[in-house]
Amino acid sequence: MSNKVRVAIIGVGNCASSLVQGVHYYKTAKPDEFVPGLMHVDLGGLHISDIEFTAAFDINKTKVGKDLSEAIFAEPNCTTVFQNNIPKLGVPVHRGMTHDGLGHYLKEIIEKAPGPTDDIVGILKDTKTEVVINYLPVGSEMATKWYVEQVLDAGCALVNCIPVFIAREKYWQGRFAERGLPVIGDDIKSQVGATILHRILTNLFLDRGMPIERTYQLNTGGNTDFLNMLERARLDSKKESKTNAVKSQIERRGRHIDDRNIHVGPSDFVPWQKDNKICYLRIEGRHFGDVPMNLECRLSVEDSPNSAGIVIDAVRIAKLALNKGISGAIEGPSAFFMKSPPIQFDDHEALRLTEEFILENSLARG
Ligand SMILES: NC(=O)c1ccc[n+]([C@@H]2O[C@H](COP(=O)([O-])OP(=O)(O)OC[C@H]3O[C@@H](n4cnc5c(N)ncnc54)[C@H](O)[C@@H]3O)[C@@H](O)[C@H]2O)c1
Repeated sequence: MSNKVRVAIIGVGNCASSLVQGVHYYKTAKPDEFVPGLMHVDLGGLHISDIEFTAAFDINKTKVGKDLSEAIFAEPNCTTVFQNNIPKLGVPVHRGMTHDGLGHYLKEIIEKAPGPTDDIVGILKDTKTEVVINYLPVGSEMATKWYVEQVLDAGCALVNCIPVFIAREKYWQGRFAERGLPVIGDDIKSQVGATILHRILTNLFLDRGMPIERTYQLNTGGNTDFLNMLERARLDSKKESKTNAVKSQIERRGRHIDDRNIHVGPSDFVPWQKDNKICYLRIEGRHFGDVPMNLECRLSVEDSPNSAGIVIDAVRIAKLALNKGISGAIEGPSAFFMKSPPIQFDDHEALRLTEEFILENSLARG
C-alpha cells in the first residue's frame, strides 16, 4: 500500500471547500511545523500533501460537472476563501443520488443538476478511492445509508462527518467489520467549537465539585447548514448528537441532568452571518452553601475551517487502519474526532487513545 490517501467527497459544500483549500494551503508544511487544527503535519507517516482527491459527488447544478477545485467556490458555498487559485485537480464532481438530501429550505435555493445518478461504486473503484468522506446535509438519513452501501460495495473506509448514526450503530459496525473496512464517526467535532467548549466547561464544573443544574447552548449561523436546520423535522439526530456530546460527560461522572434542564442545538439562521457561527452558552450551578452561580460565554468561529483540520487527521487515521487491516468502528479516534462516537471517552482520554493508535499503526516512510 502506498503512502498516499485517495479520498472521495460526498457533498461539495462549505466543509469540503475548507478541506480542499486546507490540503493545498499546507501542502509544503514542514513535518515538524505547527499547523493550527492538526494533530501532526506528519501523522503516522502521512503528510497533509499525501491526501489526493479522487472523486466528488453532489446534486447541485452549480457544482456537478465542474472540477472539484472550482466547485468548492460555487454558490451557495460561502465560507472564507483562504486559498484561491487551486490548480485543476482533474476530479470532476459527479451527479450523486438525491434521496432525502434536499429538505424544504435547501430545495428553495438549490436546483438539481439534470441527468441520472452516476455509477458511484464504479467511480470509487476506478479511481482506487480508499477513504470516503460524508458531508451531506443534516437529515439525509436515506441518502447517507444509500451512499454507505456504495462505499461498502466499493471496499472503501468511511469518515462520517454528519449526525446520521453509522459508526455508533452495531448494525453498521458489523457491516464494515464484515468487509474488513474501518469507519470513523459520527458527526465531526470541530477544533474549538461549541461542543468541545461545552464539554470542557462541563468537566471543569464537575472536577470542581459544582453540580450542573441547567445549561443551554444556542447557535446561529448563515450558511446552508443552518438554513437546512430551520426544518425541525430534519433536526432530531443533530440535537441528539449535540445534546449527548454534553450529557455523556455528566453521566459518565455518575451525575444526572433532567432533559428539561439541558437545551443544546442549532437555534436560528441569520443570513448575513454566512459561515460565521455564534454560540451562546450558559451553565447554572450551585456552589458551597448551595449558593447559586452561573457562567455565560459567547464563541464566534468560522464554521467550516473549524472542522477541516480534524477531517484531515481522521482521513489519515482511516488510511492507517486500512493499511493494518483494522476494521469496524475505530473507537479511540472516533471519540476524539466526533460528537457521537461508539464510546464517549472524555477528551483527554480520547486524545491519548488516538496518539496511541497513531504510534501503533504508523506507516514506514519511503
Ligand atoms: N464545523 C462544521 O462545519 C460541521 C461540524 C459538524 C458537522 N457538520 C456537518 O457536515 C455536513 C456538511 O456541512 P456543510 O457546511 O459543508 O454543508 P453544506 O450545506 O455547505 O454542504 C452540503 C452539500 O451536500 C450537497 N448535497 C445535498 N444532497 C446531496 C446528495 N443527495 N448527494 C450529494 N450531495 C448532496 C449539497 O448540494 C451541498 O453541496 C452537515 O451535515 C453539517 O451539519 C459540519
